[in-house]
Amino acid sequence: MTASNQTDAQAATTQVPVPAEFAQKAHVASRAAYDELCAQAQADHAGFWANHARKLLSWHKPFTKTLDESDAPFFKWFEDGQLNASYNCLDRHVANGLGDKVAIIFEADDGTVTRVTYSELLERVCRLANALKAEGVQKGDRVVIYLPMSVEGVVAMQACARIGATHSVVFGGFSAQSLRDRVEDAGAVLLITADEQQRGGKSLPLKAIVDEAIGLGGCDSIRRVIVFRRTGGKVAMTEGRDVWLHDVMAAQPATCEPEWVSAEHPLFLLYTSGSTGKPKGVQHSTGGYLLHATLTTQWTFDLKPDDVFWCTADIGWVTGHTYVTYGPLSNGGTQVVFEGVPTYPDAARFWRMIEAHKVSIFYTAPTAIRALIKAAETTPEVHPRNFNLGSLRLLGTVGEPINPAAWTWYHREIGGGRCPIVDTFWQTETGGHMITPLPGAHALTPGSCTLPFPGIDAAVVDETGKEVPWGQGGVLVVRKPWPSMIRTIWGDPERFKKSYYPADFGGKYYLAGDGAIRDADTGYFTITGRIDDVLNVSGHRMGTMEIESALVSHPLVAEAAVVGRPDDLTGEAICAFVVLKRSRPSGEEARQLAAELRNHVAQEIGPIAKPKDIRFGDNLPKTRSGKIMRRLLRVIAKGDAVTQDTSTLENPAILDQLAQAN
Ligand code: WT7
Repeated sequence: MTASNQTDAQAATTQVPVPAEFAQKAHVASRAAYDELCAQAQADHAGFWANHARKLLSWHKPFTKTLDESDAPFFKWFEDGQLNASYNCLDRHVANGLGDKVAIIFEADDGTVTRVTYSELLERVCRLANALKAEGVQKGDRVVIYLPMSVEGVVAMQACARIGATHSVVFGGFSAQSLRDRVEDAGAVLLITADEQQRGGKSLPLKAIVDEAIGLGGCDSIRRVIVFRRTGGKVAMTEGRDVWLHDVMAAQPATCEPEWVSAEHPLFLLYTSGSTGKPKGVQHSTGGYLLHATLTTQWTFDLKPDDVFWCTADIGWVTGHTYVTYGPLSNGGTQVVFEGVPTYPDAARFWRMIEAHKVSIFYTAPTAIRALIKAAETTPEVHPRNFNLGSLRLLGTVGEPINPAAWTWYHREIGGGRCPIVDTFWQTETGGHMITPLPGAHALTPGSCTLPFPGIDAAVVDETGKEVPWGQGGVLVVRKPWPSMIRTIWGDPERFKKSYYPADFGGKYYLAGDGAIRDADTGYFTITGRIDDVLNVSGHRMGTMEIESALVSHPLVAEAAVVGRPDDLTGEAICAFVVLKRSRPSGEEARQLAAELRNHVAQEIGPIAKPKDIRFGDNLPKTRSGKIMRRLLRVIAKGDAVTQDTSTLENPAILDQLAQAN
């Protein structure tokens, strides 16, 4: 890549100090202050978190016990305390005189801007909450939300939280089949969707996909579908099942008493990919989750009352939950919510929006940065230097490792060399930031997420669970429970234990699923990538087995193996090796079949899961016991020569065939 005139290797050794003027006003204002917070957590882990929980959240009933470890690894935090997430995000700010403060600056795909104050947002949440209750939704019921980026999306999540219903947002890019699977697994009673979504100047169906999903069967638990009219596009409304959002909201009063729930009450489920074919419903709590969302927004993003915060993530991912729906609102902040895509009407959209809305804190994904670097290099009009980005004071990235050259460009071209960058490492399961710079405290090394958030006991260990020396790679674990951690996998507690607290690490440490290495001098962490069969494509997490099952569900496919290969733009790219039930195709036939299989995967999972490469073979490399040697497939996918020992292979000749098939 040609992202910058500095190479990754050069950038990775540069240390960028904390700007003095930033540190002076920061929530955590020095390395010494950070060290002191860590020391407090070290001395009294539960006490540290209890302290912040009392300070940052409004409790209806205070908790008396902080951490219950009696049923480890099913940890409980603040369990006898009662609160409501929506009350914490809305009512308390209105009560404190912030009713007229802008909560959301919404910019639609076509550029239309709408501002929503805290009072208005509260009213809309109350109306929908009442409507959900009128439809019979009760505390603990699951509601699936399949909406575009919109104020309504945030309102829907907050309305569920208000009545104690557990929301499960499904990203609008997932297919009918994926939506169906999630609805069925969650046993959802109600679905909230839109007629269509508007992205990049195009209208894409949502309601039609909902109809298709329900038509596939298995969604009998759904009693109602509430439809937000976004585009006005024509949709079929099923009598007795489908209702319009504006109708049900208009019929309801503008206030709604929040349902006080235990801190352990499940606020949401969010499905994510794991090592098996079936996505897992990650279950999050109310109190512990909201605490971390609130505290990390304050410390990592250094959010202040006058900031304009913009997290570009979709509410369909965990980043959109924690840093759109909950963290900024719980802090009473003002944020931008964006419907569209970074490249429409051109690749300067982000920069134009930062200028127009005077964004001060900007949080996005490395993939977007890399794509915009490329665009800026080829199309001078979209280069960020054409825009006034002087309102920015802090930048952030998330979702995948950021290569140092892209980091340097982001720092120089977007941050004007003056804004710190927080490279935040975390996961759907962790609820919020785990390893991240605090911008007033940490000097930065491009490509490193620096040090654990105070109260997070992250370590790099070997297979026996023993910490490895700095400078030596190992496996990333978290040794102590933390408030916003995953509580269980919905409906599958055994899988929760096996995935995150496997016996090989003594069953004691949370296993993140990533490799990591700490810098020999600074102790800074660098994430080296997943150690399981999970791929990260443009910051989207996908299981290789999930894609393989989608491929083998095609009538022509006998067998498939999916691996990742490095990609300059998307981080990793999906590479599929496929054996057909008939003879191996070549030339034009192979190209056509590959296109058909790609579309099939899009149908089964969603367009984000489409393999970039599909290679056909007579077979796959297997050991004599029939195990597919993915390690070798990864080498071939990369285009490298196989130098490994292949003597255990039953069919070594297949390697040449697969290497040539492309
Ligand atoms: C996986 C989690 C956390 C919200 C978005 C992704 C990778 C995430 C970083 C980072 C290096 C990162 C890890 C992790 N990842 N952030 N700053 N540096 N890698 O959430 O879909 O649950 O994926 O994303 O591999 O395990 P997710």
